[in-house]
Amino acid sequence: MERTSSYIFNHGDITKILYGGDYNPEQWPEEIWEEDMRLFRQAGIDCVTLNVFSWAALQPDEETYSFEKLDKIMDMARENRLHVILATSTAAHPAWMARRYPEVLRVEFNGMKRKFGGRHNSCPNSPVYQKYSARLAGKLALRYGEYENLIAWHVNNEYGGECYCENCEKAFRLWLQEKYKTLEEVNRAWNTSFWGHTFYDWDEIVAPNLLSEHFGEDRTMFQGISLDYRRFFSDSLLENFRGEYEAIKQHTPDIPITTNLMGFYKPLDYQKWGRYMDFISWDNYPANETPPAVTAMNHDLMRGIGGGKPFALMEQTPSVTNWLSYNALKRPGVMRLLSYQAVAHGADSVLFFQMRRTVGACEKYHGAVIDHAGHGNTRVFREIKALGGELKALGSQAMGSRTPAKAAILVSWENWWALEYSAGPSCDLKYLDEVERYYTAFYEQNIPVDIISSEDPLDGYGLVVLPVLYLVKDGIPDKLKVYVEGGGTLIATYFSGIVDQHDLVALGGYPGRLRSILGIWVEETDALPKEAANRFIWKGKAYPAELLCDIMHMETAREQAVYELDFYAGTPVISCNQLGKGKAWYIGTRSSHEFYHDLISHIAGEIGLKPVWNPVEGVEITERRKEGVRYLFFLNHKEEEAAFAMELDGESLLDGKAYGKGETAALPAKGVMIFRAAV
Ligand code: GLA
Ligand code: ZN
Repeated sequence: MERTSSYIFNHGDITKILYGGDYNPEQWPEEIWEEDMRLFRQAGIDCVTLNVFSWAALQPDEETYSFEKLDKIMDMARENRLHVILATSTAAHPAWMARRYPEVLRVEFNGMKRKFGGRHNSCPNSPVYQKYSARLAGKLALRYGEYENLIAWHVNNEYGGECYCENCEKAFRLWLQEKYKTLEEVNRAWNTSFWGHTFYDWDEIVAPNLLSEHFGEDRTMFQGISLDYRRFFSDSLLENFRGEYEAIKQHTPDIPITTNLMGFYKPLDYQKWGRYMDFISWDNYPANETPPAVTAMNHDLMRGIGGGKPFALMEQTPSVTNWLSYNALKRPGVMRLLSYQAVAHGADSVLFFQMRRTVGACEKYHGAVIDHAGHGNTRVFREIKALGGELKALGSQAMGSRTPAKAAILVSWENWWALEYSAGPSCDLKYLDEVERYYTAFYEQNIPVDIISSEDPLDGYGLVVLPVLYLVKDGIPDKLKVYVEGGGTLIATYFSGIVDQHDLVALGGYPGRLRSILGIWVEETDALPKEAANRFIWKGKAYPAELLCDIMHMETAREQAVYELDFYAGTPVISCNQLGKGKAWYIGTRSSHEFYHDLISHIAGEIGLKPVWNPVEGVEITERRKEGVRYLFFLNHKEEEAAFAMELDGESLLDGKAYGKGETAALPAKGVMIFRAAV
């Protein structure tokens, strides 16, 4: 049997893409369990995530732990040769804990103290929560560590939310002391001489929410304070994760640990989290109208957070969610298409939420492998079963393979937070909009792109894009300079380089510490109202200039295009600076979809960045590689068939068809082809 130890799950028995998902037999009478096993076998399901929300059952009171039911479930999974991803159940504390220790309950942004209810309602800085969550994780590891079918740990579930309680406030002060050492330094970093906010005692510092500095989620009087609270709170939840992680590792050092992330989830700095996770896993819930490029971007983010390694698709709905306003069904073929899209971007698993549709409470209308009908004679089950068969036949091919990207988009959570707290120049300035625009340009041209953090190395990339890098931390300018001087191409955009890591403006002219790399000085920035636009002509074509228009001077850069309208008509909007062996572009405004497309196409051509395949309208084409083999994924997102000429000799793996170069391949609507070719 082929060993797969280099894959994310370092478990020798995993020889195919994992297939299954969240399974809650504890919510059902045991008579049903056997039927579940039979249906799982039928559908080719080989992996279950267990114990996601069972804390109240595992610990009925403070002194008592009770594992008998979970023992039975674990034994059943083992007997049925199911791989288990075992969760720690700590995303919802038991009711007795909330009653006995109200400190475990969160305080909301508006100052409201929560009672028992919902989930994700535990304060990460409650010593009681910290103690009992880590203790439970340790007990589970001790008890189940010997199960040879236990392939991974799933800590908590979708960490998130926020808390502003007194424990958090106290912990925030300690976090600040650790970071800044002295109050003078805090006062400097937050510029507290503004509006007479000077602090003379650590205890004068309070959490920034609606009761203090905020007048809305993203509207704050003191960006520096709010920014630090975001960092602090992301770290607080990360500490919870690490508490459980350590407790588990003591007993099962070789079983990898993850927690399920949520793509571009603003409150948590996942790039920092990724450094503490053994492998990345995430939950993908696009709506039917979500553009496929956006889903692809989230997958690529997850791959990037894991340093380019394969990740796990931990959850997706097989058919429908319950929490949108309009919970449309996934159309026939779409579950399969989206499953392969995850694999196409680096997932080595296809897992669902949930295996059996629950009978009561808010998720009873959420899609599941086994529906309320209770049998396998449903459209959804048939589609799941068909995909199960395909994944079995595919085996370990493509597993563990990597995406060969030579372009990168640098994203930063701190920048995201700071930019959207910035109180000017435009309320429509949204970080992910700009990231998405650049990402889509790569996506539509089949140019693989990594989404990297500011800590990641830049060597190896021919092109690095920094969408609105407003906040520039120490060390970044030097790194970018070395990159460009060494021959790299950089694209920076409007409203970049404005502040340092404390959200203090870099004096001496915008874009601050990026100024010499970009060879420009931005003197002013004009914010245009929604419908307004300036214009520019670049390489003979007219494009709109929207949202923000930087008004700039060339220092060492050369102007590439100028504004056409308004008092700054004739001044540069796009520039390019030759620096050492490389080039640094500056795009001083937001423009159209077409512009981003043309810009990336032009630069890719200039530096020889190749698409993995020539674009085919409506068909997403990506590549994973390993051991001299290219796996090309063709995903037809359209409602019609797509036909295209093959550019290489090779084999289509799902139907076993061989193609010669120049032959025509046809993909049905929503169809998928995985094409194997030599490197
Ligand atoms: C999340 C959670 C699951 C479930 C699904 C429903 O992803 O992790 O427990 O609530 O949403 O879509
Ligand atoms: Zn709290």
